[in-house]
Amino acid sequence: MENHHVLFSAAVFILCLSLHCTGSEENFVYSSFADAGEANLALDGAATITPEGLLQLTDKVANIQGHAFYPTPFQFKKQPNGTVQSFSVAFVFGIFSPYPDASTDGMAFVVAPNKSFPGASSAQYLGLLNSSNNNNTSNNMFAVEIDTAQNNEMNDIDSYHIGVDINSLISEKSHPIGFYDDKHGGVFKNLTLECSNCKRFQVWVDYNGETTQINITLAPIKVQAKPTRPLLSVIFNLSTVLTDKAYIGFSAATGPITSRYYVIGWSFAMNAPAPAIKIARLPRLPCPRDNSLQKILKITLPIVNAALIFAIIILLVRRQQRYAELREDWEVEFGPHRFSYKDLHNATEGFKSKHILGTGGFGKVYKGVLRKSKMEVAVKKVSHGSNQGMKEFISEVVSIGHLRHRNLVQLLGYCRRKGELLLVYDYMSNGSLDKYLYGEDNKPVLDWTQRMQIIKDVASGLFYLHEKWDKVVIHRDIKASNVLLDSEMNARLGDFGLARLYDHGTNPQTTHLVGTMGFIAPELARTGKASPLTDVFAFGTFLLEVTCGRWPVSNSAHHGRKMLVDWVLQHWHRGSLLETVDPKLHGIYNDDEVCLVLTLGLMCSHPIPNARPIMRQIMQYLDGDAPLPEFTPANLSSSLLAMMQDEGFDPYVAQYPWSANSLGTMTPEILSGR
Ligand SMILES: Nc1ncnc2c1ncn2[C@@H]1O[C@H](COP(=O)(O)OP(=O)(O)OP(=O)(O)O)[C@@H](O)[C@H]1O
Ligand SMILES: *[C@@H]1O[C@H](CO)[C@@H](O)[C@H](O)[C@H]1NC(C)=O
Ligand SMILES: *[C@@H]1O[C@H](CO)[C@@H](O)[C@H](O)[C@H]1NC(C)=O
Ligand SMILES: *[C@@H]1O[C@H](CO)[C@@H](O)[C@H](O)[C@H]1NC(C)=O
Ligand SMILES: *[C@@H]1O[C@H](CO)[C@@H](O)[C@H](O)[C@H]1NC(C)=O
Ligand SMILES: *[C@@H]1O[C@H](CO)[C@@H](O)[C@H](O)[C@H]1NC(C)=O
Ligand SMILES: *[C@@H]1O[C@H](CO)[C@@H](O)[C@H](O)[C@H]1NC(C)=O
Ligand SMILES: *[C@@H]1O[C@H](CO)[C@@H](O)[C@H](O)[C@H]1NC(C)=O
Ligand SMILES: *[C@@H]1O[C@H](CO)[C@@H](O)[C@H](O)[C@H]1NC(C)=O
Repeated sequence: MENHHVLFSAAVFILCLSLHCTGSEENFVYSSFADAGEANLALDGAATITPEGLLQLTDKVANIQGHAFYPTPFQFKKQPNGTVQSFSVAFVFGIFSPYPDASTDGMAFVVAPNKSFPGASSAQYLGLLNSSNNNNTSNNMFAVEIDTAQNNEMNDIDSYHIGVDINSLISEKSHPIGFYDDKHGGVFKNLTLECSNCKRFQVWVDYNGETTQINITLAPIKVQAKPTRPLLSVIFNLSTVLTDKAYIGFSAATGPITSRYYVIGWSFAMNAPAPAIKIARLPRLPCPRDNSLQKILKITLPIVNAALIFAIIILLVRRQQRYAELREDWEVEFGPHRFSYKDLHNATEGFKSKHILGTGGFGKVYKGVLRKSKMEVAVKKVSHGSNQGMKEFISEVVSIGHLRHRNLVQLLGYCRRKGELLLVYDYMSNGSLDKYLYGEDNKPVLDWTQRMQIIKDVASGLFYLHEKWDKVVIHRDIKASNVLLDSEMNARLGDFGLARLYDHGTNPQTTHLVGTMGFIAPELARTGKASPLTDVFAFGTFLLEVTCGRWPVSNSAHHGRKMLVDWVLQHWHRGSLLETVDPKLHGIYNDDEVCLVLTLGLMCSHPIPNARPIMRQIMQYLDGDAPLPEFTPANLSSSLLAMMQDEGFDPYVAQYPWSANSLGTMTPEILSGR
């Protein structure tokens, strides 16, 4: 009997540890909800009690709400129409957001006439009200909101605050989450959301019925004693708000972020301080262990990884782009002549502008030194739009690359990129002839013997292209700037075959004329068709250019455009040919050679292709192996007439390059009927 009594008392005592049993239903304490089954909390929505003993108000779902209320109402007013008595609430809450620094939307401790909220909205309405009944006095509701999202509609002060709500989610007063730390002289400690996620906090709500003061106090769970200074203090007469009997409980709602809101402990007392929650008994939140190193690693590792991968990708892409080339199947057969872009890039130090040797009609030419062989090269960057005819062109360039002659600039190979072709040539240390002729870059004046040698060199190079190889190669752009001088001052013809790129590559409708003004044979201008004889025509102009030291076309103020050929021919007619010789030679030259070269130049510049000598003959004349045939412009007229009747006359002839009065009586103007 005695034993029975002791056992019964012990059971009551244990029960009373969690459930404050004194004073009927006027107070209670839950230090865990695992043993609150008896209390029979009214749950709805997403609210559940987890096996660990947590009251979980929302689950991992967006825009949901959950409610948990004490099953029976409390008598807030002792007498009907009386005043609301003093009361005190304490609870421990926690938030578990999938993001460290953001959460939606919030939770609240609520005193309301009903424990269910049909029609209430989630998100900023926290599952309590909706847009139509917000701030309506008939709500009879008092709430303490813990709002984790800033909402302008509710005049929220920030994204993590606590507020006193009367009938409305627009708080009477609110404050950023934090506490006044008694241990440090009562200074305010700001608890931002990012360091609050997954931590537990205790909140005290105290109402004094006489002074109508509402105090809200908050502290992290490790600060066990209630701070002396409340976070928020509001004077509001709840007697004008609450119904005589009212339910107390919690509500929470999610917005777009699927945060979970938890109540971990809860106590309440009417007319007395809320019983202390036993902090040590409180269950933990189902969060990853708060190991700060782990946490830092967890946050930083993916960022570091992503950054590393990103950096590597950027590097690879940039490298790829920098050295990207175009290669096609058909190019395999030309493999050995292909340079890698990387090698050329390295050789020219990334195509630095200080390595530019010159800029021509096709693009820039760079000096480079190949890494492995230490060989000096000239890299010509040719930009081209279309891919059309590229195969033919490259195969031609490559086959031309097999050409080897002491008077040709050796083409070593090529490299192809998108819209760009790089041609690699032997480097010619003395640069191009035009610089000597016109005294650019402080180049010395070439004497006649040097000039004669250069003329013979170019002739032999061109002869080789025309006749010494298994197929005829037309140079298409003979002129002083395409004649380069090697270290021994040997002249070498450069750029051969390159003009074909334009023949192949461009739109046939816009017949792009390749060549340089003054060097274009009339039939080339007319038909666009290059032949060895159009090369001879240009060579003729070149002979005059070298001997006279003048541009093939000059613009004079008095006479308009003046052709060098016309001018030399005039002197030929007058018998004053030697007056055309470059004055920079100071009269020091071999008269016979000069006359030979000038006359040969005129013969080569004959408007009728068949009247021009071929390169084989030119070589013989220059070497003195055959006498120069008598040059009589008179016999031009008959052949000119024959040609015109043959092919149909095109007035274009008149403009190139013999503007005709030099032809005597038979001027193209007369013939054309103008
Ligand atoms: N192999 C080379 N070695 C040394 N310098 C060169 C070489 N090739 C070209 N150059 C220099 O680069 C300049 C430009 O060459 P490029 O052949 O592109 O132009 P161009 O002959 O003046 O005009 P176009 O493109 O119409 O033929 C030349 O004048 C010359 O000074
Ligand atoms: C309480 O007040 C209401 C109106 O405010 C009145 O109708 C009611 O009779 C009052 N009850 C008591 C018991 O005074
Ligand atoms: C609470 O709500 C339920 C259902 O909406 C209703 O039946 C009940 O009368 C309400 N109680 C109070 C006190 O308003
Ligand atoms: C707002 O809530 C009230 C009470 O819960 C309900 O009667 C009403 O229909 C709701 N309004 C809307 C727009 O949901
Ligand atoms: C809420 O309603 C009260 C009157 O009931 C009014 O004075 C107050 O301005 C309203 N607040 C808002 C934010 O609408
Ligand atoms: C407040 O709610 C009551 C009852 O739901 C309604 O009759 C009244 O019109 C509402 N007041 C306002 C200002 O919306
Ligand atoms: C608390 O910290 C947050 C973030 O650092 C800041 O935006 C806010 O203004 C601070 N609040 C107070 C009251 O110091
Ligand atoms: C509110 O806090 C103030 C300051 O600490 C205190 O003087 C007052 O008694 C408190 N009121 C209640 C209802 O706790
Ligand atoms: C609070 O309101 C009630 C009823 O409106 C009133 O009787 C009481 O005197 C008020 N208390 C204070 C402190 O104003």
